[in-house]
Amino acid sequence: MYQVNFDIADFLTNYWQKKPVVIKQAFKDFHDPISAEELAGLACEEEVASRVILTEQNQWQIIPGPIEDYSAYGEQDWQLLVQAVNHWFPDSIALVEAFRFIPDWRFDDLMVSFATPGGGVGPHIDNYDVFLLQGSGARRWKVGDIGKYRPRNGDTHTALIDDFDPMLEVTLEKGGMLYIPPGFPHCAKTLSTALSYSIGFRAPSQQELFSSLADQLIDQNTGLKRFTSNGEPTSPSCVSTAQQQGLQAMLAELIANETTMQPILGQLLSQNRFELDLCPADEPYTKEMLIEDIGHGAQLCRVGGLKIIQLEADPLNRLFIDGQSHTLPEHLQPLATLLSDNIHLSQAQTSTLLAEPELVTLIVELINSGHMYLAE
Ligand code: SIN
Ligand code: CO
Repeated sequence: MYQVNFDIADFLTNYWQKKPVVIKQAFKDFHDPISAEELAGLACEEEVASRVILTEQNQWQIIPGPIEDYSAYGEQDWQLLVQAVNHWFPDSIALVEAFRFIPDWRFDDLMVSFATPGGGVGPHIDNYDVFLLQGSGARRWKVGDIGKYRPRNGDTHTALIDDFDPMLEVTLEKGGMLYIPPGFPHCAKTLSTALSYSIGFRAPSQQELFSSLADQLIDQNTGLKRFTSNGEPTSPSCVSTAQQQGLQAMLAELIANETTMQPILGQLLSQNRFELDLCPADEPYTKEMLIEDIGHGAQLCRVGGLKIIQLEADPLNRLFIDGQSHTLPEHLQPLATLLSDNIHLSQAQTSTLLAEPELVTLIVELINSGHMYLAE
């Protein structure tokens, strides 16, 4: 079990989404949840997103995974990065759970890196909040102020930038952590062979929100209202200010409608950017099997990274699970929260859930789809 060793309320008030902060002993007696060998094992897998970055005299070369052979890279100046380790390596999930003081919908993934001396991704700007936690080894971090920076090699599609003036420099050792909000340039240089953990959080952009809205309108064949006006401009080439405002108002009307927006938000915010390690049941799993297995002491678990979220004041009392919505009767609201809030359910909590037929049906459905499973 991992427990943060700092004042969460103070962090949320003074730093979260505001400014970088170093927390020297963020975890007491920290131990790596994964070894370098286990990380390399994940990086061999086709479905796991990984890359190696080579540092060559202030040039950085990216080698996309899967990575099977490291012999060409030598003893220094390279780094292996593996995304969504919490989806593929169950022992790492407990570390992510220590960050649930930030709600699940904001969580992106746990990226783990193995870096040799001199290794690092170079100066860059992320558009997400990240907690950079040091495991074994030591790395020297520098962070610059928010501002305008030149993209590296003029390429505006990557997060990489030319160098920057640091406003903060720190050497992180085991259990030390650096929090960086979006927009602050940063980079690390590895001092001694290191395992590091990037616990990333992100929020949807306007682009993503509009794209989800458009998908939903097309799927449901709604949003078909068309613009009308009761006055036309005198110039044939002119779209009047009133008409522009009327067209914008049509969009604003859609966005202000909770009935339209709630399912879009629930679906979008319960989805993951990285693939989940789903293991659908080989043969159809049934309600009877579930009751029997739980009775024999099996534990109900969710796959790593699965998000089960609820929207406050949702009149339909929905659970949004990996982009799908599940409506439950109103009286089951507290039990829906029990299922969404708790990653680990005790035997007593599971029995309470299974006393309700609607929840039995939902859980069986989740086991059959591979989102949940039973462990001994
Ligand atoms: C790194 O570990 O060097 C990259 C992590 C990050 O900056 O997000
Ligand atoms: Co970064």
